[in-house]
Amino acid sequence: MSFEKSVIETMRKRQSVRTYDSQNIREAHANKINDYLTNVANLLGPFGKRGKIQMVHVTNNVTDKGIKLGTYGFIKNPSAYLVGVSENNKYALVDFGYTFHRLVLYLTEMELGTCWMGGTFHRHSFEKEIAISKGEFIPCVTPIGYEKDKQRMFDKVLRFVVKADNKKPWDRLFFDTSFEKALTKGQAGFLETPIEMVRLGPSASNKQPWRLVLSDNQDICHFYIEHTPNYSTKLGYDMQLLDMGIAMCQFELACKELALQGEWAVEEPMLNLPNENFEYIVSWRSKEI
Ligand SMILES: Cc1cc2nc3c(=O)[nH]c(=O)nc-3n(C[C@H](O)[C@H](O)[C@H](O)COP(=O)(O)O)c2cc1C
Repeated sequence: MSFEKSVIETMRKRQSVRTYDSQNIREAHANKINDYLTNVANLLGPFGKRGKIQMVHVTNNVTDKGIKLGTYGFIKNPSAYLVGVSENNKYALVDFGYTFHRLVLYLTEMELGTCWMGGTFHRHSFEKEIAISKGEFIPCVTPIGYEKDKQRMFDKVLRFVVKADNKKPWDRLFFDTSFEKALTKGQAGFLETPIEMVRLGPSASNKQPWRLVLSDNQDICHFYIEHTPNYSTKLGYDMQLLDMGIAMCQFELACKELALQGEWAVEEPMLNLPNENFEYIVSWRSKEI
């Protein structure tokens, strides 16, 4: 499957949607989603894990099996949920973030609303709905449905509470050669738009933990996470690794659309890190130069 519209425009447009119109998902859309989920190529992460994602239809938040899927009131009138499972280790979670987000963008292109959810849902009720193998768990789900008229009060208040519109500026996220020097848009060269797409991506509690360092001749972009201390420890997994998968997905899809060749490699450059919360994830090696 390739995207039919500009995925860069889709990334610019995407926002979390928490209040839906009560209409069911149109058959044509449901078929497209099912086709997407049965095509292995759509579910392959950059580190080689194959995503496992299922669609579960709901009526008044109750599934066909009669199970109530609770979201503590955060989500109103969803038509269905997409539920994925993963193993609980670093690169499996990054892969999950990547494949799940690619699907989120595919839905956004179809004008279906989504909202990544790692915290505000009853994990146990969702676990009863889908097949989970030993060693797997549900890192995140998303409701899907058609957006109820834009900017409902509940969504507005929540956006305010999590500062959803407060995306960090370039100089807090992106660096030139080392963490000592901020990267400006002008210095990012042909990677300016892919890097900007990382900035616009969704992240848990909008913490935006991604930190990128571009090499001096602009051909290698190193991806680091700045962990928010103790974030999600109670849940037993590092939710911010999903944010890194999202960042890789936004970056790579933007490169593809701009016909910029490159590949992922785990080759840590051994830079001086600003503090102990920084962790290296991956590098994008450009083939443009
Ligand atoms: C991994 C992840 C987990 C999230 N978990 C929740 C959640 O449990 N509940 C919720 O209402 N929003 C959740 N969000 C949505 C974020 O709050 C939202 O993406 C962020 O505020 C930025 O807003 P935007 O998606 O509209 O750009 C999550 C997002 C991500 C990426």
